[in-house]
Amino acid sequence: MSTKQLSTKHLLGIKYITSDDAKLIFKTADSFKEVINRPIKKVPSLRDVTIANLFYENSTRTKLSFELAEKRLSADVINFSASSSSVKKGETLLDTVNNILSMKVDMVVMRHPAPGAHHFLAQHIDANIINAGDGTHEHPTQALLDAYSIRETIGDLHGKKIVIIGDITHSRVALSNIFCLQKLGARVKVCGPPTLIPKYIKSLGVEVEYNLLKALKWCDVANILRIQLERQDIKFIPSLREYALYYGVNKKVLDQVGKDIVIMHPGPINRGVELSSDVADSDQSIILQQVENGVAVRMAVLYLLADRRGDR
Ligand code: NCD
Repeated sequence: MSTKQLSTKHLLGIKYITSDDAKLIFKTADSFKEVINRPIKKVPSLRDVTIANLFYENSTRTKLSFELAEKRLSADVINFSASSSSVKKGETLLDTVNNILSMKVDMVVMRHPAPGAHHFLAQHIDANIINAGDGTHEHPTQALLDAYSIRETIGDLHGKKIVIIGDITHSRVALSNIFCLQKLGARVKVCGPPTLIPKYIKSLGVEVEYNLLKALKWCDVANILRIQLERQDIKFIPSLREYALYYGVNKKVLDQVGKDIVIMHPGPINRGVELSSDVADSDQSIILQQVENGVAVRMAVLYLLADRRGDR
């Protein structure tokens, strides 16, 4: 499909790939998007490849999307979920993975609560490692599918204005999006209550806006994130009701913006908190397009990394 290669054999984070890597992934995803819209949605590209999906944290969309991408490429797939495995009996991450690799697995897609778990694995095993989310750190395939969806909707990202709204502190989607959008030449702002925006964020070249209406008036695209209550051991906001009042994106606030902006959300949506149903289900929303593109983008990532199997 392509003679070009990625600069890396793992996808540990957007921080570690180049803008050329991202563009190659998008170009490859274009072809796969065409494939998954055919009556026969499958290609034999990874027929000799075995992929293990290791999920140490809950997931719906990402897990289904990776599994579907792998199957559309004709890979052999094994699934592992920490809640129903020997991890509960005290096995270490490296032992679990080495056991799985003895079964001749070529690629590992992993979601893990510990930031850096993927780097650790990459140092110890030969398989290609793909980060499907590491704690509050990175979620590279989500950022790639988000950037791909923006590109598809409003064209080249260069100079485009994207605002990421919500719980920036606890969101791996936010950090990967910031890295990815900036690498592709977009301007990025974050918006949310001060307690949910990390102090270091400006050092990443990101602007901060605490006023939702001003942020929406500035942007071309608003990527709206969930409040990650499961990662908050103390209270960062008084209540979800109050959050929705000041930062919830709804029809009423969008009517005051005076232009049509693109609405995105990685899911799962807490309807009525960060986003109202009339906006989530409106023509401005590309949320389901993001899900569709997720499969094509993940096919591209798997295909291109498989091409670098065996490289050190
Ligand atoms: C996100 C995640 O798990 O990081 N969802 C996803 O992958 N589609 C965001 C979230 O959980 O809010």
